Amino acid sequence: MIVGLLKELAVALPRYVRYRARQAFGRSAPRAAAPGGPVALPARANATPSVAAGEPGGIGLEPALLAPVSWPSYKQAAPPPELLASPLYQIWEATPNRHKWLHYFAIYQSVLGPWRGSSLRILEIGVYRGSSLLMWREYFTHPETVIVGIDIDPDCLEFDAPERGVHVHIGSQTDRTFLAQMVLRYGPFDVIIDDGSHHSSHIITSFNHLFLTGLKDPGIYLVEDLHANYWRPWRDSANSFLDLCKELVEAMHAHYAQTTAATFFVKEPADQVDAIEVPLITTLLEEIRFFDSIVAIYKARRPFIPHYRRSETER
Ligand SMILES: C[S@@+](CC[C@H](N)C(=O)[O-])C[C@H]1O[C@@H](n2cnc3c(N)ncnc32)[C@H](O)[C@@H]1O
Repeated sequence: MIVGLLKELAVALPRYVRYRARQAFGRSAPRAAAPGGPVALPARANATPSVAAGEPGGIGLEPALLAPVSWPSYKQAAPPPELLASPLYQIWEATPNRHKWLHYFAIYQSVLGPWRGSSLRILEIGVYRGSSLLMWREYFTHPETVIVGIDIDPDCLEFDAPERGVHVHIGSQTDRTFLAQMVLRYGPFDVIIDDGSHHSSHIITSFNHLFLTGLKDPGIYLVEDLHANYWRPWRDSANSFLDLCKELVEAMHAHYAQTTAATFFVKEPADQVDAIEVPLITTLLEEIRFFDSIVAIYKARRPFIPHYRRSETER
């Protein structure tokens, strides 16, 4: 018990010191990089100098929204009733070898529920003890659905079950040749789930390769366990995958960033712009959904023609 208290104190004390330092000097004391602990985040170009990089409040949140509050954790032994009622969670409960954060099931249900009865090609990075492959096999009911799991651990081959449409292959999520082979053999995929190494550099490599060449349009790219972006040793790159996602948010709006309002506020179709030069990624992004530790990035059905006109009535 005393050890537990000391551990909690070790986490809380630096936080408190930073908080008081911010109050006193308007800036945070620098964070120490502790092994296994949170990562000292790199400075972001758009953060104001008065706020520590990586902490909220750098770009406009007011003190009322930043006031420290105590946030009690959910300690009940029984999962909440809405979770128990979720079809995905019910399948999960009947699955052996399971380990997953409880709040993920509502998220997955919300993102993937509408696709449940469709014929899908699904790629999951990270097989481990096979439980999510079993869960997806039960959840997606279409008999032609194909589920592919990849992992670096050869023991995962025991979950290969081609007769059930479940295929397991051994290789790394950072090996672009291997990923290309998977896409050629089973893809392109409707759904890609990255639940692999959780190393930020690996997640970024896989996304760069698979979002463009491995995902159908429309398609959904999910990344799980993004809290690891904030912890060593998983945060192994200057920018995290969540930083990349913030860049995706900007990329979704690149056609506005590269023009003025006048470009769009024209009434006559003949005066409208024919096209605006944007990065390819802008034309691929339909929607990005952020959840606690999961991001779902929706690839747009192509061709994705933007509406450069507004719907307006004359006064
Ligand atoms: C969190 S577990 C996967 C859990 C599984 N998706 C589930 O929910 O039941 C992570 C897995 O990623 C695998 N892994 C680690 N590094 C990898 C890499 N570079 N490429 C592919 N898989 C990797 C590990 O061997 C481990 O089995």
